[in-house]
Amino acid sequence: MSNIPENFKEKIISLCKRRGFIFQSSEIYGGLKSAYDYGPLGVELKRNLMNEWWKSMVHKREDITGLDASIIMHPKVWEASGHLAGFSDPLVDCLVSKERFRADKAPKLNVEDDITITCNDKGQAKNFQKIIEDRFDILLKREGKQLKGLKLIDDKNFGFFEINNTKPIKTFEYKGYVSPTFGCPFLSEERQFNLMFRSQIGPVDVLGEITTYIKKNKNISSDELRIGIDKLVKKSAVYLRPETAQAMFVQFLNCQQTMSMKIPFGIAQMGKSFRNEITTEHFIFRSCEFEQMEMEFFVEPGTQEKWLDYWVEQRMSWWQKFANHPENFRYRAHDESELAHYADACYDIEYKYPWGYDELEGVASRTDYDLKKHAEQSGTKLSYYDQQKTDPETGKNGWRYTPYVIEPAAGATRGLLVYLMDAYTEEIVKDAKGNETTRIVMKLHPRLAPIKVAVLPLVKKEGLPEIARKLVNELFELGINARYDEQHSIGKRYRRHDEAGTPFCITVDGQTKEDKSVTIRDRDTMKQERIPLVNLKEIIQKRLSPA
Ligand code: GAP
Repeated sequence: MSNIPENFKEKIISLCKRRGFIFQSSEIYGGLKSAYDYGPLGVELKRNLMNEWWKSMVHKREDITGLDASIIMHPKVWEASGHLAGFSDPLVDCLVSKERFRADKAPKLNVEDDITITCNDKGQAKNFQKIIEDRFDILLKREGKQLKGLKLIDDKNFGFFEINNTKPIKTFEYKGYVSPTFGCPFLSEERQFNLMFRSQIGPVDVLGEITTYIKKNKNISSDELRIGIDKLVKKSAVYLRPETAQAMFVQFLNCQQTMSMKIPFGIAQMGKSFRNEITTEHFIFRSCEFEQMEMEFFVEPGTQEKWLDYWVEQRMSWWQKFANHPENFRYRAHDESELAHYADACYDIEYKYPWGYDELEGVASRTDYDLKKHAEQSGTKLSYYDQQKTDPETGKNGWRYTPYVIEPAAGATRGLLVYLMDAYTEEIVKDAKGNETTRIVMKLHPRLAPIKVAVLPLVKKEGLPEIARKLVNELFELGINARYDEQHSIGKRYRRHDEAGTPFCITVDGQTKEDKSVTIRDRDTMKQERIPLVNLKEIIQKRLSPA
């Protein structure tokens, strides 16, 4: 069962801003589309999440090493990996609304379906009707905000029909889909668009070179001009990595040799990736700048199926461990048509978002594709020699082979969104006067929670602030992220920390001075216990330790 209310987007986005989890990037300048800043609580949550991943992948395993590679890599990396040629989406423009969308994700129709263009309002319908009349010479019937009269004839053509007429007045080419927002079939040809962000490296005056080139080549065609300019730009072009994975293939030998790793072993990396996404959507679900947590696990050829199953299980249980609603996660195997060119099998770990099940992490069996491609392009042998094994081809002792790879590739920022959704809870509770009110509480796992303990002096006098501050400093010494908080009434402070996801609130009151005890309030149950100060640190450490 999902705990997400209907209008979750507004509620989560508003809570993220109100409590300092996530802000729109460059907000005071009107914001940058699809770019986000992780605020005081967001940065802690993101780091906690990524640190937990790192601990489980690297610190708790002898068979995985870490890597922190540069974001800008040699452009040949992207040629070898296929990203430069193939990291592109087929893009289409709607000729009526100007909407730009991905052809492979657009809705498809069945033969004989009526094609209804559904606009946002009557005014827009009038406008679209006029554009279609001017451009395609047909007058669609307007019914409120809908335009009617089109029908799919077969898988290549649609037509304009008058009422009760089975013969079309005019036919048009059907591209295989309609635009996602309006259902419009009047579309441009597909164009490829590279998703990698390009920049230039070094003190090269590319604009100067392009200007000279254009001046010298006044008489060549537009296509020739474009090819020439592209060559000039590519001379000093570099790209922001669209995935963290490639560095782990490129540094395979260095990592294996320096750490004397024996197959099966993995290399893990987490950090920023960049994709010039056409459709950025659902808050931080799909953005242009995001963070990934990826691991390449190198295995003996022929054992990839077993390791794929192993990693799917491992990763699923990791996500579920920190969730209140583990039932909202599921696996989905890719069918043949979905598989990336380098993969022989793949599972998605999906989460039940308010818009339906969608990807959180992909666990792919990437074969030996990447190591072989980088070996080919770089001329470096990226293989592994196992002297204990027999070469299956020669039957001789010792086997040199290119390892196969299992890749669990997770989105860290997408994971953060999942845990925000999983944690968001609205409860009806009674206030001090006995009236019903809604309590919003972020039931974040204590290990993920940005602030672990809030220390609240009941009043700002009588020596209570001093005791509270001393306690905060002692918690800091233990590496526990504590916060001193004396603003507003105690009730308001509890609510504030409920929304921040702070698992424990410690209240220092008059009795503290008398018998050296404090109350500890549990965020989820709201129960308060009085405990001796001397036991406090041990109790908190125990409650924060891994399950
Ligand atoms: N190395 C394989 C790879 O990058 P992917 O499925 O493209 O595979 C892995 O990306 C994960 O990264 C996804 O499951 C998703 O969680 C996250 N991700 C990909 N594109 C993203 C975007 N534009 N915004 C946020 N997260 C993204």
